[in-house]
Amino acid sequence: MINRILDFIRPNKFSDTGQEVQELMKTIDKQRLPRHIAIIMDGNGRWAQKQGLPRAFGHRAGVESLRDIIKLCCELKIQILTVYAFSTENWKRPREEINVLMDLLVEYLKKEIQELCKNGVRINPIGRLGELPRPALDALSAAVKLSSDNNGLILNLALNYGGRTEIIDAIRAIATDVETGRLKAGQINNDTVAAHLYTAGQPDPDLLIRPSGDFRISNFLLWQLAYTEFWLTSTLWPDFRRIHLLRAMVDFQRRERRFGGLKDE
Ligand code: FPP
Repeated sequence: MINRILDFIRPNKFSDTGQEVQELMKTIDKQRLPRHIAIIMDGNGRWAQKQGLPRAFGHRAGVESLRDIIKLCCELKIQILTVYAFSTENWKRPREEINVLMDLLVEYLKKEIQELCKNGVRINPIGRLGELPRPALDALSAAVKLSSDNNGLILNLALNYGGRTEIIDAIRAIATDVETGRLKAGQINNDTVAAHLYTAGQPDPDLLIRPSGDFRISNFLLWQLAYTEFWLTSTLWPDFRRIHLLRAMVDFQRRERRFGGLKDE
């Protein structure tokens, strides 16, 4: 009887998340990890609201989640992590919230850069960066410079990023190549477009994670996600920890990726 009551109270088989993390670490096949993981860090506002706190607290708590996820990616030697930190549409938010997000970015980069470098992380901001406020730009250039020789995890920080804007920027660059005679219109193919995106040279994400229960792509990596596996959870980003990423990876490894083809016989 007591066990049945305990089973009901426990959210899953393991009462201790530490124990589940260990089990999942043993379960995942280290040879078949996703090379590139993308995350829409959503739910900060709702998390804060649930605790009766201003939205800024949710964003601050979201930084803790990011820290834990980066650490796990480094431990597992994941090649690329792309996180959606500020979209081209986020400028519609109240000025105070935009300021909080920009200040958090500067604080994060200044406080974490040493630890990131110690773990071999290379900071790679993507988006229309020129439109960011000066202090954010300065902190980003310093972080890029300090981490440029690192050869561990590439951390794509999507800032003032929009998938459509990225495609427009690529089209403009390709059109210039055509205008100046460097390229013929008929030669444009998948590789041409990919080579003009902010993620040029990187493999497309294998796994996209969206926390907080929404089922939207929200203008994120529109070209690159063509054959990415999605993993959605109702957990809000500030509650998202390595255990969730490990669950996502185990699930990812059970999937059959056909890229529009047929199952290998
Ligand atoms: C979406 O949640 C989240 C954002 C717009 C910002 C994400 C930023 C962080 C996690 C801060 C840390 C990032 C860096 C790089 C320091 P939301 O505010 O839309 O949440 P809601 O949908 O619940 O309102």
